[in-house]
Amino acid sequence: MTELSLPFKFRYLPVKKFLDMYQKSLEEPEEFWAEEARKLDWFRTWDKVLEWKPPFARWFLGGRLNASHICVDRHVKTWRRSKVAIYWEGESGDSRALSYSTLYREVNRYASVLRNCGVGDGDKVALYLPMIPELLIFMLACARIGAIHTVIFSGFSAQALADRVNDIQAKLLITADGGFRRGKVVPLKNIADEAVTKCPSVEKVIVVKRTNSPVTVKTPKESWLDDLLKDAALFVEPELVESNHPLYILYTSGTTGKPKGIVHSTGGYLVHNCSAYKWVFNLREESIYWCTADIGWVTGHSQIVYAPLAHGAATVIYEGAPDYPTIERWWDIIEKYGVTVFYTSPTAIRMFMGYGEEMVKKHDLSSLELLGSVGEPINPEAWLWFYRNVGGERCPIVDTWWQTETGGIMISPCPGIECLPLKRGSATLPLPGVEVDVVGEDGKPAPMEQRGFLVIKRPWPGMLLGIHGDPERYRETYWSHFPGVYYAGDYAVKDKDGYFWVLGRADEVLKVAGHRIGTAELEDAVVSHPQIVEAAVVGKADPVKGESIVVFARLKEGIESSPDLKKGLAAHIRKEVGPIAVPDEVYFVTKLPKTRSGKVMRRVLKAVANNTSIGDLTTLEDASSVEEIIKAYQELKEGEVKKK
Ligand code: WT7
Repeated sequence: MTELSLPFKFRYLPVKKFLDMYQKSLEEPEEFWAEEARKLDWFRTWDKVLEWKPPFARWFLGGRLNASHICVDRHVKTWRRSKVAIYWEGESGDSRALSYSTLYREVNRYASVLRNCGVGDGDKVALYLPMIPELLIFMLACARIGAIHTVIFSGFSAQALADRVNDIQAKLLITADGGFRRGKVVPLKNIADEAVTKCPSVEKVIVVKRTNSPVTVKTPKESWLDDLLKDAALFVEPELVESNHPLYILYTSGTTGKPKGIVHSTGGYLVHNCSAYKWVFNLREESIYWCTADIGWVTGHSQIVYAPLAHGAATVIYEGAPDYPTIERWWDIIEKYGVTVFYTSPTAIRMFMGYGEEMVKKHDLSSLELLGSVGEPINPEAWLWFYRNVGGERCPIVDTWWQTETGGIMISPCPGIECLPLKRGSATLPLPGVEVDVVGEDGKPAPMEQRGFLVIKRPWPGMLLGIHGDPERYRETYWSHFPGVYYAGDYAVKDKDGYFWVLGRADEVLKVAGHRIGTAELEDAVVSHPQIVEAAVVGKADPVKGESIVVFARLKEGIESSPDLKKGLAAHIRKEVGPIAVPDEVYFVTKLPKTRSGKVMRRVLKAVANNTSIGDLTTLEDASSVEEIIKAYQELKEGEVKKK
């Protein structure tokens, strides 16, 4: 696993500075994080840095601050008022640049709109919007008045939207007349209409105009944003919230049940993210930073909105699909804005690899200084391709490991402090203040170079406050696997240099194109199809997306399998969850492999789908189920051969 002999033209060595800082951060963690926290603006200093009542951590207790003040107000008091905060690129080629002073004015006006709609401190606001500046402005406007936002990815279906809105009991829903995706309009307002019929908590709906699609806005419950802005004040006093006031709730998938509402704090979250951003991305005042994630995921929250804006950085946002209208779109954007830091996902890199390097080489990417990768393990080939063809062999790649729950980056090289020698495929070492390890089944440290479970050994400021409305589930999911440590759900290896290699999920969470999809959520969607009684969903290794979705479903008595039924099931899943959950393969079977206690053995299904060893079958109840599945697979393969 060790691999130091790479064709690097750069090296920051030795790494003494980083290691000294790391050591100090673990020896005196409270002093260390207090020092970092002082870099933000507080209206009242905290009484206590950390209150750790396992498994609940509360940071900077008693401290008061406001996230929108940190992201905009404090910059408009300086020369940055005329600096570009957001370079926005629309899918159809339209663009907008918002300075910090414009952003400040808009955040205040939007906050006034929210207030006028009766939203106040602690109320929940659901944001179902495309990647347009209005989304960020509303996030910051919520933070300004102490309202808690929940962004729902605009690719989710009406049902998925309704589930999330109901879980948080949102008072207000903000959507758009539509969003552009590959030149087509995603009818967000119509989807929202369908959801709202099932969401009694929603008192009001605000609609942003983006596509000019003909939608109906029924007053007084629904209003166009433009109409509400006519009565908006130009200044709204920021609400000085306590450090542990939730900034937002973001849903993510787990192994069981419905998606979990991950609750993030204001103070701890911002401290962690601001520090991590500087360390990892080596931010300079003149950096032009582009994170390609969607704001609907945590990467977008932390790395497009809160961390860059808190630093007064210039952040690029692109509305649409990476390969639309042509596969050169991303490289055009880097060239157009002179992007210096480019942060993306292994899936995207692998997709572009498939198109060949010529289309990248046609572009002048010499502005780039640093590259980043996130969301899934990056395979060495993709790493090298990215390093050579995009980074021109001059840019370090920061492979950043973190999760929705961690709020901020946890393991990554830190060129902003001192860059460690890189190894392709390893996220290297934890950030200062972060202590992680790899443990075996028994919870003891795993031997060097051996696969184990990734754990976090002490609280960190960006750590989730909990799962919305379910403290027990929080305890159970993260703190019950091994005593006293946070269970991340990933397999990892620690090599002889102490570097961490995160290998992928150890649980039944799928990572499809970097999106986290829970098997339980998908199976619920499959069995809600009227002709299906039972289902199991597994991941299959995919050369581009990392994993693809394979469904095994048992049909109701008397129902015959048919290609139409398969198509119908795919459409049903799209409707229930959204396009990101549409399966790549569907198999109808008469029984699923189960243990004698009745649990589906997904492991067996996964082995069949991936053509790997099936392993121990002693707990299996009925061996014929496995034979049937293998047969179904063979038939598929024969079918493919015939087609050729
Ligand atoms: C899971 C978290 C917060 C980032 C976006 C995804 C996987 C994330 C890496 C990486 C290997 C990675 C893990 C993790 N993951 N980054 N650099 N190397 N795996 O957030 O949806 O909460 O997913 O993404 O499996 O547990 P998320």
